[in-house]
Amino acid sequence: MKRILTGLIWLSIGLISAQNGRMIIPSELSEETIYEMTEMGSKLTSNDIYSSDQLSLNDAVIQFNGGCTGEIVSPKGLILTNHHCGYGAIQAHSTFEHNYVRDGFWSKSFEEELPNPGMHVTFVRKIENVTEEVLKGITPDMDPVLKQSLIQKNIKLISQTYPKEDWQEVNIKAFFEGNQYYAFTLENYKDIRLVAAPPSSIGKFGANTDNWMWPRHSGDFSVFRIYADKNNRPAAYSPDNVPYKSSAYFKINIKPKKTGDFFMIYGFPGRTQEYLPSVAVAQKVEIINPARIEIRKTALDIMQHYMQRNDTIKLKYTAKFARIANYWKKWIGESQGIKKTQAVDRKKEFEKYFLNQVKIKKLDPEYLSIYDRFEDLYQQNKDIELARNYFIEIAYLNNDLLKRALSLYNLQQIYQTKGKEAFKLSEKKFSPQILGSFKNYDSQVDKALFEALMKLYVDKMPEKYKNKAIKKENISQTADIIYANSVLNQPDKLKSLLHKNPKKFLRILNDDPGYQYAQQLIKDYYQKIAPDYQNIRTQINQLQKKYIKGIIAASDKRLYPDANGTLRISYGVIKGYEPRDAVYYFPISHVRGIIEKYIPGDYEFDVPKKLIELYQKKDYAPYSTTGEMPVNFIGTAHTTGGNSGSPAINAEGDLIGINFDRVWEGTMSDLYYDQKISRNIMVDINYVLFIIDKLGNNQRLIKEMTIKK
Ligand code: ARG
Ligand code: ASP
Repeated sequence: MKRILTGLIWLSIGLISAQNGRMIIPSELSEETIYEMTEMGSKLTSNDIYSSDQLSLNDAVIQFNGGCTGEIVSPKGLILTNHHCGYGAIQAHSTFEHNYVRDGFWSKSFEEELPNPGMHVTFVRKIENVTEEVLKGITPDMDPVLKQSLIQKNIKLISQTYPKEDWQEVNIKAFFEGNQYYAFTLENYKDIRLVAAPPSSIGKFGANTDNWMWPRHSGDFSVFRIYADKNNRPAAYSPDNVPYKSSAYFKINIKPKKTGDFFMIYGFPGRTQEYLPSVAVAQKVEIINPARIEIRKTALDIMQHYMQRNDTIKLKYTAKFARIANYWKKWIGESQGIKKTQAVDRKKEFEKYFLNQVKIKKLDPEYLSIYDRFEDLYQQNKDIELARNYFIEIAYLNNDLLKRALSLYNLQQIYQTKGKEAFKLSEKKFSPQILGSFKNYDSQVDKALFEALMKLYVDKMPEKYKNKAIKKENISQTADIIYANSVLNQPDKLKSLLHKNPKKFLRILNDDPGYQYAQQLIKDYYQKIAPDYQNIRTQINQLQKKYIKGIIAASDKRLYPDANGTLRISYGVIKGYEPRDAVYYFPISHVRGIIEKYIPGDYEFDVPKKLIELYQKKDYAPYSTTGEMPVNFIGTAHTTGGNSGSPAINAEGDLIGINFDRVWEGTMSDLYYDQKISRNIMVDINYVLFIIDKLGNNQRLIKEMTIKK
């Protein structure tokens, strides 16, 4: 009885709910989990989902270019991912004559598929728990620094001796803040070619206005292909490479979907922090998020002001604006969601319960004061965290001139510490990046950003970290001088400066008014903010690690580690939600809704004429025969950034959609997942095929895939 009660309490507290909605390590699928999935309609066994010695779904899922996920959909290495994940490549191939961003790209043969230097995808072939090996020789009373270095040593040793093939890599990752470790055997393919992309008006229909929102109508997909050497192994780009022969690939199921259908998301979620104490969550949503939101709002308003008045500026700043706006909007949703779900109070209830468990289970009595220690550390953390965010947002993310100064400062450090040779090498790396930043740059906009952000700096930077030499009343005048004279604002001068010998380069640079000004901020960062941050983070991380150890010991249920960029599954059902009182959102959107939102000529809500014709003729078959073409759908899988492009998989293991976003009301799921309103958003695979077939006229791709009706 007591066990049942305890379980119920854990459940109601929500921190540890049923597996439904959690991010599970595929090699750790328990019987309990498979049972629950089966109850929800799944027919998959744990070996279907993951196996290290036979083909299974994990062999058809890839990490796409580091930050996204993708899936293999043909025996010839064809990949589906999101449009926003392939955007960099689509943009890089676009020219005035061939504007693939605007018009889409539909290669008609292997020869027309376009290589993308630097792009890579990674398969996970094997996952193994290596906690014991990594923690070998570690004793509880060991000095923390010593402990860390021994762990590092063990990790290095295991990585070097772990059995693997020549073309594979082994990566060891920490879980539960270092209470567990897993080894991943990876295959990294480096010749990835662009195959197809819809026009942006389809791929990012609704752009920033609809971002993080439901109802949604984005065709957020793009198509790539893996190329391999003649032995089907990873190889750098070569015209001799051939399409990768994939033994594992998803079949595609176009049966109509409905509320309650089981699905699973298989991918690479980047980062969640579900086990933070209440004080940390409160600080994030009440202090840190509002500061970052204010900085970004300031920057976005300025960009928008200029973008609305000038088409050249609009073109240059569209991608930058979208990148800054993405997390600006996310943080607003996150803070609101935490308040609305009373997540801080829920966490406090859990904390009471935890302390009680510590007493009942006679765990380490140090746990009894753990929340006081968190309280104290987060109190110290507040100004440091704020200062760090002000610096990064102002001098790195929202102002190009200051960002250039930061790169040059790092270059200068390399010269001073590592000498001329290292400098020359690094310069090769930095130069293209520094000079490349002029491509989408307008000095008038950047100057306006500089003035507004530096004023915000003077007003808002915590006193302890504020540079007193920077005076608000001088900022406009300083900006005039810097933007008129600094090499940081003059690509030609900066280019020739970068070609001078390092000594001369540094002398001229250090006389530059822009660089001198930026250096004040940069030095404050490296000399004061970063060391303080490092120090407090080390302490917080150690305490968090101990806390999680305690939670594991106190718990009677299985727990799920926070996302850390490793392969996970998460499952749920297709389901709507209630964003506000008396409002219900249905879980499937349709082409009809695109037409409802359509604004001719608008940069967010315009659509190709051809789509309107298809809509008028209801020319949807075979992807829909009901007269309504689905576009997006939502469900209860727990996802986060990095899950973009992940396959949505049905009960039989077939592909039914591509994950790309979450609903705004539920974006606090990175800190506190709530099944009632946290929903992931997917593109319906039927819409993807419909666009490829009827809008892109690309039947060769349709033929390449296996489509089940
Ligand atoms: N919100 C989604 C994610 O976090 C989609 C972002 C796509 N980019 C954009 N700026 N609309 O990645
Ligand atoms: N849009 C995100 C991504 O790009 C997914 C999310 O945050 O839900 O990974």
